[in-house]
Amino acid sequence: MNAVLGVGGGIAAYKSAELARALMERGIRVQVVLTSAAAQFITPLTFAALTGRKVITDLFSNSSSEETLSSAIEHIAVAQENDALVIAPATADLLARLAHGHANDFLTTTYLAFTGPVFLAPAMNTNMWLHPATQENVSILKKRGHVIIEPEEGMLACGITGPGRLADPQGIAEIVAGFSSLGKDLEGETILITAGPTQEPLDPVRYISNRSSGKMGYALAEAAVHRGANVILISGPVQLPEPRGVSVIQVHTAVEMRDAVMQHLAEASIVVKAAAVADYHLSRVPQHKVKKTATRMSLELDPTPDILAELGQKKADRLLIGFAAETENLTRSALSKLESKNCDMVVANLVGQDGTGFESDENEVVLVLRTGETIPLARAPKRDIAGRIFDQVIKLRLSLHAAR
Ligand SMILES: Cc1cc2nc3c(=O)[nH]c(=O)nc-3n(C[C@H](O)[C@H](O)[C@H](O)COP(=O)(O)O)c2cc1C
Repeated sequence: MNAVLGVGGGIAAYKSAELARALMERGIRVQVVLTSAAAQFITPLTFAALTGRKVITDLFSNSSSEETLSSAIEHIAVAQENDALVIAPATADLLARLAHGHANDFLTTTYLAFTGPVFLAPAMNTNMWLHPATQENVSILKKRGHVIIEPEEGMLACGITGPGRLADPQGIAEIVAGFSSLGKDLEGETILITAGPTQEPLDPVRYISNRSSGKMGYALAEAAVHRGANVILISGPVQLPEPRGVSVIQVHTAVEMRDAVMQHLAEASIVVKAAAVADYHLSRVPQHKVKKTATRMSLELDPTPDILAELGQKKADRLLIGFAAETENLTRSALSKLESKNCDMVVANLVGQDGTGFESDENEVVLVLRTGETIPLARAPKRDIAGRIFDQVIKLRLSLHAAR
């Protein structure tokens, strides 16, 4: 694995020398990029000596390392030739520039040209870290799917005690190396993922929907693309940026979602149906806005197409993963869904609790398999849950191959 180690201009820059070593000890080839502020804190020579490679400090110097870089447009070459981008320490200023797409130095320009996984380890004074501006930037970067390795609490160089100290370099290296050990185990697979809610119109201005945010489906799409899969994401209306490297098809209604899924089914070797599709809709939507009256109104709704059931019928040898969002009898409902819809696995999701399920950044699920085996996954960020789901998908794929 090849990684860019970007170093920002903070007191903790000296710790990134240990991080460079720790990454190399885990078999990762490291290309160091220093911001000009970082070069005030630690010299390029330190990293050149540690890594045996030329250190990049300037967007315009064309200081390409003869050893690795093949292009005169060095930031593009660095973006293409590396599998991960690690920035430690990520200063408040860098977080702001990354969040808002600035490209005013080598590191930020490389970031924009880079399509792989990004790991950010912020370090700064506690008040700078807790400032709403920094927290908003962190939230933007998290939504983009980047791994934020949160700073630790402790005594800071400025004399304050609180959160802001760079995470332990060995721990950062462990997280990056953990990612690399996953490798590209989904290479060659085309994964069709559905995400988000659907909106079922009642008239031209009103609709019925649900509280799905799409975060789980988008986390699955990101995880799959990082692991080498070709990903088609069919998404209901959500407030999330499109994951990089994923073909996204936007839909609104259950019928549109069904049509898009069936249109792309032939390409897919794995289907993950994480969308919260409406079960009922108005099959004949009035052309004009329904007027308010003093009388009671009732809606007569028809069932929407059962996409998962149709997928189960057309399954062939592809893997089919369903989701079951339940408020009670979680495992029993998931098992019955698995059987009735011909799924290989159902991810059972207890919704309606605080902090997990719909709208949340975290989830706590139970994987229910055909064998009746259940695998509980403890509460964790949706990104981690997505990784665990694909670990299980790989196992299912291997066991099916072995059974043939
Ligand atoms: C002595 C000193 C220490 C600093 N330490 C930090 C720090 O720990 N974290 C941080 O976010 N900024 C810190 N700064 C401010 C950054 O150096 C400044 O915002 C700079 O623009 C960051 O540039 P960069 O993001 O391109 O590396 C420090 C500045 C000075 C002068």
